[in-house]
Amino acid sequence: MVTDPVPSESLSYDRPLKLIAHPVRHLRGTARVPGDKSLSHRAIMLSALAVGKSFISGLLEGEDVLATAAAMRALGATVTRVGAGAWEVHGVGVGGLATPVQALDMGNSGTSTRLLMGLLASHDLTATFVGDASLTRRPMARIIDPITLIGASVSAREGRFLPLTLVGTPEPLPIDYSPAVASAQVKSAVLLAGLNTPGTTIVREKVATRDHTERLLTAMGADLRVDRDGESGAGRIIRLAGHAELNPITLSVPGDISSAAFPVVAAAALPGSDILIEGVGVNPLRSGIVDALIAMGSDIRLENMQTLSGEPVADIRVRGGKLHAIDGVPGDPSRMIDEFPVLFVAAACAHGTSRFTGLAELRVKESDRLSAMAHALAQAGIRVEELEDGLVIHGCGGLVPGGGHVDPRLDHRIAMSGAILGLLAERPVHVDDATPIATSFPDFATVMGALGADIELTGPHSPEPSASRAVFLNGQNND
Ligand code: S3P
Repeated sequence: MVTDPVPSESLSYDRPLKLIAHPVRHLRGTARVPGDKSLSHRAIMLSALAVGKSFISGLLEGEDVLATAAAMRALGATVTRVGAGAWEVHGVGVGGLATPVQALDMGNSGTSTRLLMGLLASHDLTATFVGDASLTRRPMARIIDPITLIGASVSAREGRFLPLTLVGTPEPLPIDYSPAVASAQVKSAVLLAGLNTPGTTIVREKVATRDHTERLLTAMGADLRVDRDGESGAGRIIRLAGHAELNPITLSVPGDISSAAFPVVAAAALPGSDILIEGVGVNPLRSGIVDALIAMGSDIRLENMQTLSGEPVADIRVRGGKLHAIDGVPGDPSRMIDEFPVLFVAAACAHGTSRFTGLAELRVKESDRLSAMAHALAQAGIRVEELEDGLVIHGCGGLVPGGGHVDPRLDHRIAMSGAILGLLAERPVHVDDATPIATSFPDFATVMGALGADIELTGPHSPEPSASRAVFLNGQNND
C-alpha cells in the first residue's frame, strides 16, 4: 500500500472563481461521480470510534469530508490518506476521544458539525465549533435541544448559532427522542451520543430519513434495532444499545446520488442524450430524484443493482426526452432533500407549471435554497413564484432563455444547479462564484465535460481560459 504523507488538509483543488456554462445539444457517455458525502462523513467518524484499523476506499475528498477527517484527528484518532480516495483510520474506541487543543473548523459542513456535536455530547471533553459564513447562519438548536437532555451543555452565539462551545458530560443519559423536523443529521447526532451512553437510546422518526448511520453501525457490530412506526408505516423507531464496541471495517463508498443528480437532470432534459453514471448509491431513502424525474416522463433506469458495504448501488442510465410538469414529488421530500435545486432546473425545462410545497427545510440548508433558486431561475428568464415553503415554476417546455448570473450564496448545490441551467439554455449562464463546488464535487466540470458539457472555469487559480474549458464534444456538433 502506498503511504501518502500529504495530510488531508493540504489536498488542494483548482479553485476557479467563476464558471460559465454554455448551452449543449445533448450529453453522451459514461462517467462516475465522487463518493457519497453522507457515507464518507460517517465512515470516518465511526471508524475513528472502532477498536483497530479500518480501511475506506472511494472516500469523497471534498472539503466537507476533509473537515470531518481533520476534526477526528484533532480528537485523537489517526486518520491517514493512503492513496486517491483511500484512507486508513486507527480508531480510539467508543468513549476514547480527547479534548482538541484548538477550535474545530467545520468550514461549510453542517453534517460534520451536527453529527460531531452529538458524538461529543457523551464524552467528558470540551470542544469549540467554528465555521464559514454559511454554516454560522444555520440552526443548531435542533441539536442543542437533544444533547442538553443527554446532559451536555452548550454556549452558543445568540440565536443558538455557531460559534459554539460544547461541554460534554461524563454521565450521559439515554434519551427517547422524537425530532421535530425530518432530519437524518438530528437522528444521527442522537444515535452517536448513544454509543457512549449506558442503556438504550431511542429515536422516533415520523418519516424515515436516510439510514446510513444505522446501516453502518449495524455493519460494525452495534446492537441496533429498527422498527416501522405509524399508521402508514412511514415512521421508524430506532433503538441503540449503549456502551457499544465497534469493529473496524473495510468500506467501499459508492458514488453520491446527490452529485449524480446534476448530469442526470441535464441528460434527462436534453433529447438525444444517453448517459450512464456508474456505481451510484441508490439507498431507497435517497433515490427520490429518480422517482421525481420518472414522474416527469423521463426515461431513467437503474442497471446492474448490487449491494456494496451494506448499501444498494446501481448504474443510472438516462435517455433524454421531453419533460412534463409535476405537482409535488412522489413520496416524502426527505428522500431527495438535497436534489431540489437541480429538480427545479428540470421543472424550468418541463412543459407546464410545476408546484412544490412542504419544503421549508430548504430555507436552512447551505443557503436559503428556495430564495436562491427563485432568483437563479428568474435571472435565466423563467417565470417563478416563491412560496413560504416552496416554488411554483412555469416551465419553458424546452430550453430556458438563460443569459443571467447566478449567485450561489456559498452553496455548492446552487452553484452546480446554475451550471446545469446554463447547459439547458439558449444563452450561457454565469455562476458568480464556483468555489463552493469543492465542498462536495471537486471535479464537477471535468466529469460534466467528459459527458459533452461545455463548462468554462475562470479565475486566478484556473488554467488559461481557453485551456480550462472542459469541452469534450464526443465527435458531436454541440452548436
Ligand atoms: C445529511 C442529511 C440532510 C442533508 C445533508 C446531509 C446527512 O440534512 O440535507 O446534506 O448526511 O445526514 P438534514 O438532516 O438537515 O435533512
